[in-house]
Amino acid sequence: MLLETHVLQDTDPDLPALIAGGFDIVGESWGAELLLADDAAARRAIAALRAHVDAVAAAGLEVRELTPADAPAIAALDAASWADVPSTPATVHAPTSETEARDWTARGHRGFGAFDRGALVGLCVGSGGDNGYIVVAPTHRGRGVGRAVTAAWMLAAIEAGERALTAGGATENTRSLDLVRTVGFRVTERWLSLQRR
Ligand SMILES: CC(C)(COP(=O)(O)OP(=O)(O)OC[C@H]1O[C@@H](n2cnc3c(N)ncnc32)[C@H](O)[C@@H]1OP(=O)(O)O)[C@@H](O)C(=O)NCCC(=O)NCCS
Repeated sequence: MLLETHVLQDTDPDLPALIAGGFDIVGESWGAELLLADDAAARRAIAALRAHVDAVAAAGLEVRELTPADAPAIAALDAASWADVPSTPATVHAPTSETEARDWTARGHRGFGAFDRGALVGLCVGSGGDNGYIVVAPTHRGRGVGRAVTAAWMLAAIEAGERALTAGGATENTRSLDLVRTVGFRVTERWLSLQRR
């Protein structure tokens, strides 16, 4: 059955009428941004982000930009790592196929991965300053890998001239929110997903 779904900001004046009219809140999500006001702010951000990448490199992992040749590993990591991830109607993650991953570069996406003895264990992908998604293999979580690949992606975006970075996710996914906060993002928007009772 196709449910009637609305996604609106928590400040939207239509919200009370929708709830009174038979809609339930079925998910909450956030939007966050990092604005770099000037070149000095960009330089400070770059130094902090490099330290996150260097920390996992010191632990023996390689962090580098992903290429079309990494597509099979990207699809496999994605397929193996999303089973337990909370989502909302506003933040659904469709698994990345090998074909999609191969097309990332051609479609203006840049991805950065962390490799443990040659195996891809985490990645962050985005387009311009917009973060797409971050994923780390369940075996490698909680060791700074997510932060390092996110920092690598942010570094490349900032070095390419982006001064406004954005990210988003499900509120229930506290790890993802904690992660983006530790690399400098600030939550600026909260979104609610509503479906008819
Ligand atoms: C979210 C995710 C990418 C985090 O990756 P990770 O490598 O485990 O994260 P890191 O080790 O780099 O940790 C960065 C911060 O996240 C938070 N964090 C990470 N693991 C956590 C855990 N198990 N419990 C609570 N907070 C955690 C912490 O705030 C940590 O900062 P700290 O080390 O200073 O305390 C990973 O859990 C994952 O792949 N989840 C499934 C996919 C997903 O939800 N992606 C995000 C949506 S785009």
